[in-house]
Amino acid sequence: MGAKTHNSRGKIFMIYLILISLSLFGLILPFKPLLKITSPSSTLRINLPSPQVSQNPKWLRLVRDYLPGKKIQVGFLNLEEKERESYEARGPSILKNVHVSLDPLPENVTWKSLYPEWINEEVSNCPEIPLPKLQGSDVDVDVIVARVPCDGWSENKGVRDVFRLQVNLAVANLAVQSGMAMGRVDATVYVVFIGSCGPMHEIFKCDERVRRVDDYWVYKPYIPRLKQKLLMPVGSCRIAPPFAQFGQEAWRPKTDVKLASEASIALPRRLRVAYVTVLHSSEAYVCGAIALAQSIRQSGSHKDMILLHDHTITNRSLIGLSAAGWNLRLIDRIRSPFSKKDSYNEWNYSKLRVWQVTDYDKLVFIDADFIILKKLDHLFYYPQLSASGNDKVLFNSGIMVLEPSECMFKDLMEKSFKIESYNGGDQGFLNEIFVWWHRLPKRVNTMKYFDEKSQRTHDLPENLEGVHYLGLKPWVCYRDYDCNWDMSARRVFASDSVHEKWWKVYDKMSDQLKGYCGLNKNMEKRIEKWRRIAENSSLPDRHWEIEVRDPRKKNLLVQ
Ligand SMILES: *[C@@H]1O[C@H](CO)[C@@H](O)[C@H](O)[C@H]1NC(C)=O
Ligand SMILES: *[C@@H]1O[C@H](CO)[C@@H](O)[C@H](O)[C@H]1NC(C)=O
Ligand SMILES: *[C@@H]1O[C@H](CO)[C@@H](O)[C@H](O)[C@H]1NC(C)=O
Ligand SMILES: *[C@@H]1O[C@H](CO)[C@@H](O)[C@H](O)[C@H]1NC(C)=O
Repeated sequence: MGAKTHNSRGKIFMIYLILISLSLFGLILPFKPLLKITSPSSTLRINLPSPQVSQNPKWLRLVRDYLPGKKIQVGFLNLEEKERESYEARGPSILKNVHVSLDPLPENVTWKSLYPEWINEEVSNCPEIPLPKLQGSDVDVDVIVARVPCDGWSENKGVRDVFRLQVNLAVANLAVQSGMAMGRVDATVYVVFIGSCGPMHEIFKCDERVRRVDDYWVYKPYIPRLKQKLLMPVGSCRIAPPFAQFGQEAWRPKTDVKLASEASIALPRRLRVAYVTVLHSSEAYVCGAIALAQSIRQSGSHKDMILLHDHTITNRSLIGLSAAGWNLRLIDRIRSPFSKKDSYNEWNYSKLRVWQVTDYDKLVFIDADFIILKKLDHLFYYPQLSASGNDKVLFNSGIMVLEPSECMFKDLMEKSFKIESYNGGDQGFLNEIFVWWHRLPKRVNTMKYFDEKSQRTHDLPENLEGVHYLGLKPWVCYRDYDCNWDMSARRVFASDSVHEKWWKVYDKMSDQLKGYCGLNKNMEKRIEKWRRIAENSSLPDRHWEIEVRDPRKKNLLVQ
């Protein structure tokens, strides 16, 4: 018995020695540049509380430089108990450890339940994602260390994993509560994410990344922005609420403003915002972009308007686009890596260039086959990425609130070669990147689309804010009626009342601008051809009977 005890003590001692020498070895060899954070004397003074505890875990070495001479309080999240123990030392630099545990997710909370295809915009609710209830001094940490799940980018499960979302939200929650803790002199919280994918960029922006070493990602999130993200619904299961401008956020209690010093939660300068659209590869949408700009101005908005265009847009068109209100910027178009040569969406990734418009903080991107019917400036209060639903768990990329960022653009470019888009276009790709998006009301991006099964009349409700013209565009039809009627396959896009709304914008344009929306011979030939086919097959809506008065028919453009 006694011998046995002696024996095992000896073993423990051996392990002890090995561990100490290993950890010293580990200190000296790979991390020489970081050594300054543990001076030799402090290394020597360390009393290891138990053999497996490391006084100098990698995450600590990575954040130490940012918190010089400070005893830090650490919050651990989603770390295995074993892993945690090896960190939970109260060495010379760590004052306190807080372990935040996550409640298990109910099994029926799936990505689909967070992103339903359809919702009742007035009353819908989201399933609950359990987040830790934090209280007292627990919510006053300087550093959060969290392991984030990562199943790779290629599978849907990887990015649409509710547990991954839960971990990211829990980290954000702890960061915000600590950053805004009463009496706190600075609102700085560092987060070290451990995992090969890093955190969800929808919640932790790449701009706030201060360092990355292998699977360790160090972030210094901007706390007010993170707070806004936490106030968003946990999925598109509810309409996202707009927020007041920074500094007047409803969520910030008045007393907080005094306690957390004004300077610390620094309010950004006035947000620089603009509407933006993109034209590439052909002139087919020049008239559309002109009408879009005019509709924005007619809605009463005075915000900047930026148009990105490639070399295919002629100088004559650029003059018109500029006169319509666009500030023009030349771009190189971007080929969709997975689309076929000369396919209709070969160059659709050009849209991604909007993330490079970094002289603005926030942009509302709008497709050029769109008009605005009510002032949409309130969209600038929404965070990236806000959009309207399309189908399944996906959003429609026809209108998007986004935050330009050079690192985000770089990320998009890198991922564009790895992640295939379901339709080869930008929408499919962006939906794999921004899986956690915020739902705008449908009236902002109302599709001109009438499902035959639903037996709806081909009209839209009156409270529209934006209309998305799917199918043949209004300017390639006569103004007398919607020529989508003349093609059986395009009936789903046909609506005279919605067609008319576009022409009302046109009517208010100057003659100079109307000149960009003329008909040319080819366009007219195509309309007439389909009118004859419709007549021949006696299409029951009988639009082919309508006598055409559109003056553009008599003044065909020469091209
Ligand atoms: C999950 O199940 C619970 C309990 O049965 C229920 O209250 C809740 O509505 C369900 N959630 C979803 C998203 O189906
Ligand atoms: C278009 O305008 C640019 C700059 O104003 C000029 O450099 C270019 O030569 C023009 N191109 C044509 C085809 O006129
Ligand atoms: C790609 O761009 C073209 C032209 O701009 C547009 O007609 C088409 O709808 C886009 N396709 C997708 C899938 O986004
Ligand atoms: C009209 O329909 C008939 C038979 O359905 C066909 O033979 C004829 O070619 C059609 N004419 C036109 C102009 O499409």
